[in-house]
Amino acid sequence: MNKISVAIDGPAGAGKSSVAKAAAAALGYVYVDTGAMYRAVAVYALDSGIDPETERDRLVPELNGISVTFEASKDGQMVLLNGRDVTSRIREADASMGASAVAVIPEVRKKLVAEQKRMGESGGVIMDGRDIGTTVLPDAELKIYLTASVDERAMRRYRENKERGMECSYEEIKKDVIKRDENDMNRAVSPLRRAEDAVLVDTSELDFDESVGRIIGLIKEREEHVL
Ligand code: DC
Repeated sequence: MNKISVAIDGPAGAGKSSVAKAAAAALGYVYVDTGAMYRAVAVYALDSGIDPETERDRLVPELNGISVTFEASKDGQMVLLNGRDVTSRIREADASMGASAVAVIPEVRKKLVAEQKRMGESGGVIMDGRDIGTTVLPDAELKIYLTASVDERAMRRYRENKERGMECSYEEIKKDVIKRDENDMNRAVSPLRRAEDAVLVDTSELDFDESVGRIIGLIKEREEHVL
């Protein structure tokens, strides 16, 4: 079967990463988590004492020295920032907010989009993010817009954090989800929007396995069409 390129976009907390990762593992595709790349740039800024919200002038000149790579490990995929493992660090709250802030900086997007296009060149990838179907892989054979209601997305993140032993409040997380939606959808550069030719998958009423099954079904169907 010919492997295709799959673009999955959607708002924060819709389950894109976990669903995409599981579908990629089941079908032998390479999974690229583009959000992790924005998060890693944010961690670079935070660790360098640069405020991602207000000090873009200090961050931009440093971009050439920032390398974000993925490496397979026994626990799944590792995210490396200049060779340092930041897989857990990028999931912390300041890195989430920081990622949303660095994602509005055109120079950051230019750098990361170029790297993502390169990663997608050879096909056989499932890439998730906000602008994959619209900007990074506009020719992807399959585009999916994966979403869920705000309440459902906040509840999932809340449960995830609890499972990781992180202290958190549902109301705070919900506020965070709403704020990130606003940032992602209303920014001037590459705002989150559904590509015209993207298939809408709403997972509010689907559990994890059902969501993965839906994505795998769509990919298999499309693989047959591009034979
Ligand atoms: O998917 P995520 O929560 O890990 O993404 C982190 C931030 O990066 C989020 O605020 C949106 C931004 N992002 C983006 O602008 N473009 C992408 N392709 C992926 C993520």
